[in-house]
Amino acid sequence: MLDIVKLTKKYTKNNNIFTALNEVSFKVDEGDFIVVNGPSGSGKSTLLHTIGGLIRPDSGQVLFKGKNINLFTGKELELYRKRNVGFVFQQFHLLPYLTVFENIKMVCPKPVNRRKINEYMEKCSILPLENKYPSELSVGEKQRTAFIRAIITSPDILLADEPTGNLDPVNSEVILSLIGEFHKGGKAVILVSHNPGAAAKYATKSIVLSEGQIIN
Ligand SMILES: Nc1ncnc2c1ncn2[C@@H]1O[C@H](COP(=O)(O)OP(=O)(O)OP(=O)(O)O)[C@@H](O)[C@H]1O
Ligand SMILES: [Mg+2]
Repeated sequence: MLDIVKLTKKYTKNNNIFTALNEVSFKVDEGDFIVVNGPSGSGKSTLLHTIGGLIRPDSGQVLFKGKNINLFTGKELELYRKRNVGFVFQQFHLLPYLTVFENIKMVCPKPVNRRKINEYMEKCSILPLENKYPSELSVGEKQRTAFIRAIITSPDILLADEPTGNLDPVNSEVILSLIGEFHKGGKAVILVSHNPGAAAKYATKSIVLSEGQIIN
């Protein structure tokens, strides 16, 4: 489904060029559940953002079903982000002026399937908070809202950046098992985790990044 070929991303940091991703290559097939880990700063979020079409690599390619997403027009890239990938951001990126329900609803195709949204909010224990704004939520509640927003459209690939990073063990397991359910439906998952042990029972492959390179 995805072919990541020699992906390289450089940032300018204090007037120096810093290589955040250095020729990273791997494949993601349908049914893959890939867990990515590695130390802070090793390039995990950069990798996910590049695959999700949110940042452009300096060189290399992200091929989705054989097509290089970096050659997509603005419209094609928008559709790729809307239909094909679901993204759980490390910093959530909820819209502050929309409620929990509205944040989730905004990504849904019309007519909105209210029952499906309610089911997910219920499973993630945020149904009673549906009319609250992000500023009124705990970090874990924001994280669960962001998670539902990523998964509600049934994308082909879920890109999840530390989706359980701020959750207690019970909510962590709820999210992981929902990701597991999503994956069993024939979808692909790339999950960044500092705690790969928790996700190990779902993983079909694992990748370890160090200084922008795959070391394992
Ligand atoms: N926009 C940017 N400008 C300059 N440097 C950046 C930028 N974004 C990331 N970096 C640097 O690139 C490196 C990789 O960052 P990245 O966020 O991908 O790491 P990470 O593995 O996700 O870390 P963490 O586990 O802390 O989330 C870091 O050294 C970071 O400081
Ligand atoms: Mg990160």
